[in-house]
Amino acid sequence: MTRRILLTGAAGRVAHQLLPGLDEHELRLLDRSEPPPHGDAQLLVGELTDRDLLARAVEGIDTVVHLAGDPSPSATWDELRGPNVDGFAALLGAAAEHGVRRVVYASSVHAMGRYESDGALPVQAHWAPAPCCPYGATKAFDEAVAGVFADRRGLSTIGLRLGATTPVPEQRSQLSSWLGPEDLRRLVRGAVETEVPFGVYPATSANTRGHWDLGPARADLGYEPTLDSAAHAGEVEDDGTDVTTCRRP
Ligand SMILES: NC(=O)c1ccc[n+]([C@@H]2O[C@H](COP(=O)([O-])OP(=O)(O)OC[C@H]3O[C@@H](n4cnc5c(N)ncnc54)[C@H](O)[C@@H]3O)[C@@H](O)[C@H]2O)c1
Repeated sequence: MTRRILLTGAAGRVAHQLLPGLDEHELRLLDRSEPPPHGDAQLLVGELTDRDLLARAVEGIDTVVHLAGDPSPSATWDELRGPNVDGFAALLGAAAEHGVRRVVYASSVHAMGRYESDGALPVQAHWAPAPCCPYGATKAFDEAVAGVFADRRGLSTIGLRLGATTPVPEQRSQLSSWLGPEDLRRLVRGAVETEVPFGVYPATSANTRGHWDLGPARADLGYEPTLDSAAHAGEVEDDGTDVTTCRRP
């Protein structure tokens, strides 16, 4: 089914890997940096916290795929607050107000990072958030506020706790959480189409060394990953750990 999709963070690294998986849809691309042209997609440039821009961005949109944000686990609260907290809440408000059906958004394995540090594996989707850094805490907030919009405003929200989302894993620490491009596209397509109205799911490939339970994503999103970081294990830099999320000081 062809849908009208708004993709935020469209100039970023994850969007670059995802976009070929959205070609059947009518796309509108938003970023604070000019996104590269993509077929007939409409391009919007500006800040998530600009309410006029957001109103134009969500007008007539069926599904938002929200990737805009600060992706750095070492970012400070001041750096994170605008893009990851205020921007996401503003986006959800605009989506609810303008009749958007669903928002699929990028959370992160860092929202559950303390479980990984503790060796409580595989990390289960339904456990309480346990962030390992301010970045992970903003993602846990995003999951919470998305739940409020789903419950109180009838806006369907599906959160994906993305692992290391790169064309190939680059370091040993990424082998446990790697999400390869084809699996990213499968997962987002499943999140766009599922009949489940609300949920938050670990989002990795089917890694032999995986630390994240993919059962709920398989059941609810029809996710059938085909990639395994083990195929690249001989090529990665050894950074001394199997843990993707933050190490304790
Ligand atoms: N890359 C990964 O491995 C990874 C892992 C887990 C989660 N994520 C999440 O996925 C999303 C995308 O990550 P990425 O690696 O592509 O990051 P990126 O920095 O490459 O892309 C993010 C994009 O968002 C835009 N942006 C940031 N703040 C904005 C704002 N206030 N208004 C408008 N645009 C804004 C940036 O200009 C950038 O193009 C982020 O939410 C990140 O937290 C990424």
